[in-house]
Amino acid sequence: MPERYYTQSSEETENLGISLAKQLRAGDILLLYGDLAAGKTTLTRGIAKGLGVIDDVSSPTFTILQQYAARPGGLPMNHFDAYRLRNEDDWYAEGFDELLYTDAVSVIEWPENVLAALPEHAIEIHLTFSEEGSKRQIDLKFPADREALNCESEPDL
Ligand SMILES: Nc1ncnc2c1ncn2[C@@H]1O[C@H](COP(=O)(O)OP(=O)(O)O)[C@@H](O)[C@H]1O
Ligand SMILES: [Mg+2]
Repeated sequence: MPERYYTQSSEETENLGISLAKQLRAGDILLLYGDLAAGKTTLTRGIAKGLGVIDDVSSPTFTILQQYAARPGGLPMNHFDAYRLRNEDDWYAEGFDELLYTDAVSVIEWPENVLAALPEHAIEIHLTFSEEGSKRQIDLKFPADREALNCESEPDL
């Protein structure tokens, strides 16, 4: 069952990411769908905080991959932005495939560009502009064998 959340600000989207991170395990893969400025990187910033990642997540313009280490007890994170990749051949050529099969949690923006290279058991997230302004609709789809998030509709930690 997909879960739907609405956020009113980038802070709320970050908080949703923090809540989501509590559900994550080593090796999890998250596919973040959504147009430019929908909030994919903002959500990723929250996920990183929730995982115990040390550095702040940046929004790199030309970097496709950023790898983040975590504090003891946390989980490291791979942050991919596949916007500039044409297809799965580019993904494999970069050597990204093997990074999915490590202890790190992998977050992938623009997964549609490289979908054929990604496993089917990933957690799917769709971010859309809900109305004018800062409201966003965020849909989470967990694989059948995974716990849903089930947090309050206004995530607030
Ligand atoms: N509810 C919201 N959630 C996330 N970002 C929001 C929200 N409202 C406004 N914003 C703004 O929208 C932009 C989202 O940017 P970003 O997270 O980099 O998007 P993407 O990675 O999807 O291109 C930021 O400037 C952020 O401040
Ligand atoms: Mg982004």
